Amino acid sequence: MIETIEKHRQDFDSRIRSTSTSEPLKQLRIDFLGKKGCVQALMKDLRQASPEEKRQLGKLINNFKQYVESQLEEKQGELGKSAHKPSQNDTFDTTLPGRRETTGTLHPITQVMEEITTIFMGLGFQVEEGPEIETDYYNFEALNIPKDHPARDMQDTFYVEGGTVLRTHTSPVQIHVMENREPPLRIIAPGKVYRCDSDVSHTPMFHQIEGLMVDKNVSFSHLKGVMSIFLQEVFGKETKVRFRPSFFPFTCPSAEVDIQCVICGGKGCRVCSQTGWLEILGCGMVDPAVLKCVNYDSEEWTGFAFGLGIERISMLKYGINDIRLFFENDLRFLKQF
Ligand code: PHE
Repeated sequence: MIETIEKHRQDFDSRIRSTSTSEPLKQLRIDFLGKKGCVQALMKDLRQASPEEKRQLGKLINNFKQYVESQLEEKQGELGKSAHKPSQNDTFDTTLPGRRETTGTLHPITQVMEEITTIFMGLGFQVEEGPEIETDYYNFEALNIPKDHPARDMQDTFYVEGGTVLRTHTSPVQIHVMENREPPLRIIAPGKVYRCDSDVSHTPMFHQIEGLMVDKNVSFSHLKGVMSIFLQEVFGKETKVRFRPSFFPFTCPSAEVDIQCVICGGKGCRVCSQTGWLEILGCGMVDPAVLKCVNYDSEEWTGFAFGLGIERISMLKYGINDIRLFFENDLRFLKQF
């Protein structure tokens, strides 16, 4: 009998070792601890033993039973822990959604730039680009801003060596385009510009979109119409727009365009300095002096131009109160767009 118990133990050991899933484990329990299992069979055999042997063998059978129970328990625990690991037998569930690679979001400035570009493309404007390093001629002179003209003080310029500058506005693109093309034309030019300036509403680098339309009989009413359509697309159909006389050397007459404050609705608040209006862009009719510079006949052709700051529009659109947030690359900020 002692030998039989020992054989059962060896049999049990080898079977439990080769078990790696829960089905054969169940069978093992039935084979050893079930009603017709070998522990019960041993008990049955025990009846024939003498009282002396009964005590000794009973103990051994009991030990074996406890051993089987504890081994099964332990194995069950092991299998439970590794249940989530796919084994070779596990099937691959093709209905589970895939794990997507995250590639981030477009920068809010890029988003607003694309939105504005799309609006103007719908109005027949083509997109143009120009260099960020300009000669004094393109950035100032051809735009009717002669040396020593006080208007140069409006733009705190970064001067690079050899008479070049980091462009202070996108207006020089007007000159490049008109030099290379004959009218009529309708273009916009988005891009980076640079000014030596830094506080909550100014960064040394920021973005502008320039616009230029030259054709026969273009008048200030065209300019007014295009600016109003554009601003109502961006800020909503109900947005009130107003034109204020202003001065730029390269446009005449010139205007600054305000929209009714998007924060207080015109009642007056901190953002609009209690005026109810927000200054949004500069524009005007292209000055004949500029047309002359690019050999356009100002008797035949007229045009309008405008320039707007993308950061300013983005800040008002999203209620952002510090321009520097755009360039700090804090993901907590950028992920919101
Ligand atoms: N270039 C001007 C600026 O940066 C804006 C402007 C562009 C005004 C075109 C009139 C016409 O301030």
